[in-house]
Amino acid sequence: MNRYTNKTVLITGGTSGMGYATARRLLDEGAYVAVTGRSRPRLDTAVARLVAETGVTPERILAVPADVAALPALDDLVERVRAWRGSLDAVFANAGVGVFKPSTEITEADFDYTVDVNFKGVYFTVLKSLPLLKDGGAVVINASWTLHRGLSVASVYSATKAAVHNLARTLGADLAPRGIRVNSVSPGYIDTEMYRDNNPDPAAEAVNSAEVPLGSLGHADDVAAAVAFLASDDASYITGQDLVIDGGLVGSVPQPA
Ligand SMILES: NC(=O)c1ccc[n+]([C@@H]2O[C@H](COP(=O)([O-])OP(=O)(O)OC[C@H]3O[C@@H](n4cnc5c(N)ncnc54)[C@H](OP(=O)(O)O)[C@@H]3O)[C@@H](O)[C@H]2O)c1
Repeated sequence: MNRYTNKTVLITGGTSGMGYATARRLLDEGAYVAVTGRSRPRLDTAVARLVAETGVTPERILAVPADVAALPALDDLVERVRAWRGSLDAVFANAGVGVFKPSTEITEADFDYTVDVNFKGVYFTVLKSLPLLKDGGAVVINASWTLHRGLSVASVYSATKAAVHNLARTLGADLAPRGIRVNSVSPGYIDTEMYRDNNPDPAAEAVNSAEVPLGSLGHADDVAAAVAFLASDDASYITGQDLVIDGGLVGSVPQPA
């Protein structure tokens, strides 16, 4: 498929996990892709891998260090994308962090960090991209299955994800006059650095897989395929929705084996 030939897409948090997988998928489908992250070395490594894995020329990729929680960094990011390509066809507001502990142990610093990256960061990534986003363009926000079900160690994290899904509904209506669609995705347990960092116990994968009707963790590529669909013209009549990519985790309870 070449749904993205000559199109330009901004992906925040493109150095690993779902952001990286989506960058690779969209490059394979013909896009020019701007990726961000907090560290230049991790961005350089990601760009080298993307070039090696897709065979595209480095000119198809713009890598910008930018903390999404810092508004001046987002201003700089948008200016660099403008200078590079002039406009955007789609934005994947993907960068996110998780602080997973019981709600009684959450500190003000945990709260501020999580909200700053996952809610404020997503909000202003989208808002500041709007002047560059073409009419008829698309926004996809990375939310989480935890907006649909309670998870005892994820009080603040889940609330930020509920907030950004709600944002997709509101912005979907606000931006409809420009033909811009806004949707979210809710990944389940996806095998990424975030998952591994927060589940260091080797038994975690088996425990979590047993909760999933399809019987395994998901892969970043599973989410990339869904984002590539939602941000493309194939989803031209879909806005304000959340697409759950979770192997059935939210929808049903598997019988014990
Ligand atoms: N893995 C799961 O099971 C799961 C499930 C549901 C939802 N999600 C969501 O999926 C999204 C992607 O996570 P992932 O699982 O793919 O994890 P990941 O591999 O750790 O990727 C996270 C990405 O976000 C970037 N990032 C983090 N904080 C940032 C900031 N302040 N500014 C800019 N970039 C930042 C990281 O870049 P650097 O570290 O290089 O800065 C990295 O590229 C997150 O929003 C997460 O909440 C994950």
